[in-house]
Amino acid sequence: MNTTIKPIQVGLLGIGTVGSGTFKVLQRNQAEIRRRAGRGIEITMVADLDVARARAIVGPDVAVVDDARRIIANPDIDIVIELIGGYGIAKALVLEAIAAGKHVVTANKALLAVHGTEIFEAASAKGVVVAFEAAVAGGIPIIKALREGLSANRIEWIAGIINGTTNFILSEMRSKGLDFGVVLKEAQRLGYAEADPTFDIEGVDAAHKATIMSALAFGIPVQFDKAHVEGISALQAADIRYAEQLGYRIKLLGITKRREQGIELRVHPTLIPAGRLIANVEGAMNAVVVQGDAVGTTLYYGKGAGSEPTASAVVADLVDITRLHTADPEHRVPHLAFRRGELHDTPILPIDEVVTAFYLRLQVADEKGVLARITGILADNDISIDAVLQRESAEGEKQTDLIILTHDTVEGRMTKALAQMQALPTVLAPIVRIRKEELN
Ligand code: HSE
Repeated sequence: MNTTIKPIQVGLLGIGTVGSGTFKVLQRNQAEIRRRAGRGIEITMVADLDVARARAIVGPDVAVVDDARRIIANPDIDIVIELIGGYGIAKALVLEAIAAGKHVVTANKALLAVHGTEIFEAASAKGVVVAFEAAVAGGIPIIKALREGLSANRIEWIAGIINGTTNFILSEMRSKGLDFGVVLKEAQRLGYAEADPTFDIEGVDAAHKATIMSALAFGIPVQFDKAHVEGISALQAADIRYAEQLGYRIKLLGITKRREQGIELRVHPTLIPAGRLIANVEGAMNAVVVQGDAVGTTLYYGKGAGSEPTASAVVADLVDITRLHTADPEHRVPHLAFRRGELHDTPILPIDEVVTAFYLRLQVADEKGVLARITGILADNDISIDAVLQRESAEGEKQTDLIILTHDTVEGRMTKALAQMQALPTVLAPIVRIRKEELN
């Protein structure tokens, strides 16, 4: 190994939590990283609007600027790390870095899920790499696993807890029996949820990540606009309790599944059997289950966010690019696992065509014939019941909760049946519907 070769030079756009972690990890482990990559990797230039804070993090030997374009214009920089986030200026800077012939490392799931096709196309045309291990599940090397480790397999489905904020909230709701609003406030106080938590709690962040995994697994373009996205803000503590009585936990899952008719891509609260390993992933941790035809079921677990866990993924990408820097672009691992020109236009199925089981909670009048009418509607719509639980009514109480678990059905059928059930005068409140997956 030639250890005298000049270190590869990296410019960092945005030195917040992940950026400072990346700087620290590169410094602390530089000797081992050099032994792995074949040459040193050095952040030599940082751009951040807060120049003083950036300077305090990187010390006097690194150039600090407030204009990211000065990094892109610097011919000595080989790799640009984009840690600004969002689709605005980050998109412009990534495309400009590519046009300038720089490799790009990014943690920006939103950017890739929405504009990935344009970005990967630009990178391929220019012969540079856009690496994004940090974009999905933080420190868990799930991109590497899907793109390389599992490349023998026909991947059948992926189901992941890929948003730590919502998993923390759901864990607290379950263990303490608290309502969503109370736990969200606590999560914000502890720094697990942002001041504006919309992207996390409404499932958008998880859907960005599921979209990227779906593309890698099935060889299709990234298509965030086709994903079905539901968050956890409407989830009630009562449903978490009933699910538990029936042997299930509720998790916000990102699911993508290959079906004969197309591909399912969806994020929503999901009942999963309490005994599954992934059902026991608690707090802000992430986990992804991947089912491949050869390997069977595999599980990847770890921290999905945070300074050094995410930096771990960013630095791994830097090492990958450093190793492949001089390789013919045709011989590099394709951005989306399948070779350019080999992506398929398999459709993403609309939610009405998704097949899943359901948990239903109906607040009903406690009168004779009510259950019969409801089960009759399900039968008329060709939906098979798996289990029924009725809350014991207190003396003199005139209403009760009826919980129904169904077997797998096409979602459109369930939507129709729900409308019919909702119209019954004995159904006293909006019916709660939560999807259920056995993951076996
Ligand atoms: N906000 C994300 C989460 C981390 O809560 O998991 C970054 O995607």
